[in-house]
Amino acid sequence: MTFPKLAATLCLSLVFLYGIFAAGFQYGLHDPSAGAPLYDGPIISDARQKPLRSRFNHETTAAELVEGLDLRGKVIVVTGGHSGTGLEAVKALTSAGATVIALARDVKRAEENLRRIAHVEIEAVDLLQPESIDAFAKKFLAQGRPLHILINSAAIMGIPLERDRRGYERQFATNVLGHFALTARLLPALKRANGARIVNLSSRGHRVSGVLFDDIHFKHTEYSGMRAYAQSKAALVLLTVKLDALLREHKIRAYAVHPGPVPSSDLFAAGRVGSDSRAKVWLARLHARLARVLHVTEALNIVRRPKNVGDLYKTVQQGAATTVWAATSEDLEGFGGVYLEDCNIAVVVPNGSTAPFGVRPWAFDEAAAERLWRFCEEMTGIRFAALAQSSEAPKVIQSSEK
Ligand SMILES: NC(=O)c1ccc[n+]([C@@H]2O[C@H](COP(=O)([O-])OP(=O)(O)OC[C@H]3O[C@@H](n4cnc5c(N)ncnc54)[C@H](OP(=O)(O)O)[C@@H]3O)[C@@H](O)[C@H]2O)c1
Repeated sequence: MTFPKLAATLCLSLVFLYGIFAAGFQYGLHDPSAGAPLYDGPIISDARQKPLRSRFNHETTAAELVEGLDLRGKVIVVTGGHSGTGLEAVKALTSAGATVIALARDVKRAEENLRRIAHVEIEAVDLLQPESIDAFAKKFLAQGRPLHILINSAAIMGIPLERDRRGYERQFATNVLGHFALTARLLPALKRANGARIVNLSSRGHRVSGVLFDDIHFKHTEYSGMRAYAQSKAALVLLTVKLDALLREHKIRAYAVHPGPVPSSDLFAAGRVGSDSRAKVWLARLHARLARVLHVTEALNIVRRPKNVGDLYKTVQQGAATTVWAATSEDLEGFGGVYLEDCNIAVVVPNGSTAPFGVRPWAFDEAAAERLWRFCEEMTGIRFAALAQSSEAPKVIQSSEK
């Protein structure tokens, strides 16, 4: 081997090792799930959460899901559509002819990431800023377009305790309240579609905690970043249950999705934006990019060799599959208010279960969904039910009226 070739091979190996280390460090190479025994614990039989015969599975990619699909004429709004699994979902959906409106808090970054994709429009929305949600919705509704699919994918995860200007815990405010308000605001357009779907990105992380109804914003409870994330993701399943029940009569169905464990997305960086230095955000995004380019996800699976399929890491293309399935699959006609994973309706396992799959009862309990709904209406000042009956934009109760 000549010297230049040797040097190039050495450099590539070093970059690859750095990628493995960086992604492994970021996602947790010592992730205990890798060594977990094969789950053979209880599965709860439930009429709503009954898996279907699906042709797809844990390893299906978003591109495979849209093969043969014609989505021309469909209008789709996606939060977080410029990165991670959201970006791969956008690629797949637009390749099938859909028009996507990607909502991003950093429009420049979204333009850069989406520059090679046709049929994409980009609009500024920061889920932590209710007025930016209102401004976008007002603009969109004024265009008179229907909205066939709303994908609420953006999120932050596992951050230290921070509150927004309303005093709300930041993960709950972003992941739950931001999407609650966005969905409410866009309801007239969803109704106009005469058959629409809402896809809420949850996570198997919801297994860590249900909603802390007595202290959602961690005023008294000891804070843990992962517990707050879990709460927000359990809340998204509960809201999906209620949304579906409320909007079914308007031909709008709602689905909650666990995309899979995806170590190479920008989720880790997203939580750092605004609270960590730009250098740290940049580094986290670099690690994710290296993981994608160098196929570190696949390498990590070989190193970790998990026994449970649910613990196998997914690439971003695989991670986008269940979202696209939820948004488009005919198999889901007649179903709604359900939690999906691996392109199927998930089974139910008990609260506190170690299973790396399945939905926990605390996340789809109808009474809890009702209770959370009222909390969200109170916190956002948006009365959703009245809105479902009217064709008007939602009434926002000013805090002085509450
Ligand atoms: N990755 C996983 O292993 C995993 C597992 C289970 C569930 N999920 C869920 O899947 C969904 C997609 O995650 P992903 O892993 O593919 O991550 P991702 O989309 O690469 O990163 C999160 C996205 O959320 C956006 N975002 C964060 N805060 C926002 C705000 N205030 N306003 C508007 N946008 C905001 C970020 O925008 P910036 O670009 O500006 O930061 C980024 O685009 C998330 O809901 C996540 O919780 C992921």
